[in-house]
Amino acid sequence: MGLVPTMGALHAGHMSLVSLARQKCQSVALTIFVNPTQFGPNEDFSAYPRPLELDLKRCAEAGVDLVFTPSVSAMYPADASTAIRVGRLAEVLCGAYRPGHFDGVATVVAKLFHILPADMAYFGEKDYQQLTVIRRMVRDLDMDIQVVGCPTVREEDGLAMSSRNVYLSPAQRRQATVLSHALFLARDRILAGQRNADAIVAEVRAAILEAGPSQIDYVQIVDPDTLESLKHVDRPSRICLAVRIGSTRLIDNVPVP
Ligand code: PAJ
Repeated sequence: MGLVPTMGALHAGHMSLVSLARQKCQSVALTIFVNPTQFGPNEDFSAYPRPLELDLKRCAEAGVDLVFTPSVSAMYPADASTAIRVGRLAEVLCGAYRPGHFDGVATVVAKLFHILPADMAYFGEKDYQQLTVIRRMVRDLDMDIQVVGCPTVREEDGLAMSSRNVYLSPAQRRQATVLSHALFLARDRILAGQRNADAIVAEVRAAILEAGPSQIDYVQIVDPDTLESLKHVDRPSRICLAVRIGSTRLIDNVPVP
C-alpha cells in the first residue's frame, strides 16, 4: 500500500504523488486532513480551502482506493498529551518563521502512518524541509515505511503548484512567477561556476524585490541533508526561499546537482 498524506484542495502536484504511488503499489490511500497543530495562531487554518466533494471526485478519477478524511476530534482527543518534537531540522528555514509547525507535521504524519500502515509514503519536494523532517523522523524512530520524495510540479510559467495559490490576485499571480525564475537563475549561476552563496542570494533577492512589493522571509542555499546554510557552494545543494506576496506566504526550492 502507498500512502499520500494531504490537506486537500487537490491539484496536479498532489495527483502526481498518486500516479507515482500507483506505479509501485497495489493500492493507494490518500488522506485529507487540515491539521490544526501545524498552523500558527495567526495563520490560515480557518481560511484554508476545503473543497471536499471536488477532491473526492479527483481521487475517484485517479484510481485512489481509499480516502481517509478524519475530523479534528477523531485525530486529537481533547486530552491528547503526546507529540513528536523535531530538533535542529525544525529550527532552520521555515522553522524559524513557523515555531511548532514541523512538530505538528511530524506528529500528524506519525499518526497517519499508524492508522494506515502503508509500505511506502509519498511526499513532494515542493515542501523540501518537510520531506527532510519526515525522512529523519522515520530513521530516528525506526518507523517501518519507505519515504519517497517526488519532484515539484509547476504551472506552465514555472510557479510551483500550491493549494495557497488561489489566495493570489491576478496581479500577485503574475508577480509570483519571479520566485521560480529567480531560483532557476541562481541554479544557472552555480552551474556556471559561481561559488559565493552571498552573491547568488543577493541577486535572487534583488530580482524578487524588483518584481513588486513582497516580504522575503529567507533565500538560502543549503546542504540537502542537514539544511544548514552554505557560504561556499562546493557540493550538491538546494536553493530554498519563502516570500510573502500580500498576505500569502509562498515557498519554493530547486536542487543543484
Ligand atoms: P499539502 O500541502 O496538501 O501537500 C501534500 C503533499 O503534496 C506534500 O507531500 C507536498 O509536498 C505535496 N505537494 C504539494 N504541492 C506540490 C507540487 N507542486 N509538486 C509536488 N508535490 C506537491 O504538506 C502537507 O499537505 C501537510 O503538511 C501534510 C504532509 C499532509 C501533513 O499535514
